[in-house]
Amino acid sequence: MALEDPVIAPEPQAAAAVDMPPRFACFVAGTDTEIGKTLTSSAMLYSLVKHGARACGMKPVAAGAVMKNGQLHNDDADQLIEASNVHLPQSLTTPFMLKEPAAPHIAAALEGVAIDPVPILAAYVEIAAATDAIVVEGVGGFRVPLTEDFDTADLAGQLALPVVLVVGLRLGCINHALLTVEAIESRGLRLAGWVANTLEFEMTFADENIAALAARIPAPLLGRIPRLAKPTAAAAAEYLDFTSLPNWPGRRNK
Ligand SMILES: Nc1ncnc2c1ncn2[C@@H]1O[C@H](COP(=O)(O)OP(=O)(O)OP(=O)(O)O)[C@@H](O)[C@H]1O
Ligand SMILES: [Mg+2]
Repeated sequence: MALEDPVIAPEPQAAAAVDMPPRFACFVAGTDTEIGKTLTSSAMLYSLVKHGARACGMKPVAAGAVMKNGQLHNDDADQLIEASNVHLPQSLTTPFMLKEPAAPHIAAALEGVAIDPVPILAAYVEIAAATDAIVVEGVGGFRVPLTEDFDTADLAGQLALPVVLVVGLRLGCINHALLTVEAIESRGLRLAGWVANTLEFEMTFADENIAALAARIPAPLLGRIPRLAKPTAAAAAEYLDFTSLPNWPGRRNK
C-alpha cells in the first residue's frame, strides 16, 4: 500500500504570527550633538512602555564612558536603559562603548577599535527578536563619521529605519534641520516626524522659527519640548505625541 502524504496541521504559532502587529522601530537623529536626542528617545521609550510594549533602547555607538561596578557606563546608554522595560546585555544595546568623550572615530582609534556595522546590525536583530519596540539613538549630528568611510547616516541607511529628527531650537537651527532633512531623504530613508526641543530659556522668535521649520519639513511635528526644570523622560513625554509614527502601538498603519 502506498504511503499517503502526512497531513500537517497548521501551526498555531504561525497563525498567531500573521495577526501579530509589526514592531515599532525608529532611528532618532539630531541637528547636532547635545540637542535632545537622548531626552526624546527616552520619552519615546517611556510612552511605548506606557502603551504596554516591550521596549528597548539602543545606543549603538557611545563615546564617553566611565567604569562603575566593573562595567563601562555611558550617560546616554544609562538613560535609555532606565526608560526601557526590556533589559538586554550591553554588548547588544551598545556594541561600541568607547571611553573617550570625542568624535567616535577618534575615540575608537585611541582604543585600537574599528567601529563595524556588522555587529551593530546583528545586535539590532537580536534586540528585535526580544521586543515589540526599539528606539535607536544616533550619534551626534547625522553625518558624524564612525570610520574612514562609514558614518551615522550610513548606519541609519543599513538599519533602514524611519527617522525622527530632533531639532535643537537655537539660531541656525533652520539651516541645520533642512540640511539634515536633505541628507535623510537623499538616502531614501523615511522622515517620520520631527521634534522641536527648547535648549535655551528664552529663544527669541521661537514660534517664528518653528513655523518656518514646519513649513519646510515634510513630516509631522511630534511636539515641542519646553525648557524643562527636570529633563526626565516622563516630563518630555508630556509634550510629545508619537501616535502618527509608523507601527506605533495601537495605530492602524497606512
Ligand atoms: N528641553 C530640555 N530642557 C532641559 N534640559 C534639556 C532639554 N533638552 C535637553 N536638555 C539637557 O541637555 C543635555 C543634552 O540633551 P541630550 O543628552 O538629550 O542631547 P543629545 O542630542 O542626546 O546629546 P549627544 O549628542 O551627546 O547624544 C542633557 O543634559 C539634557 O538633560
Ligand atoms: Mg544623546
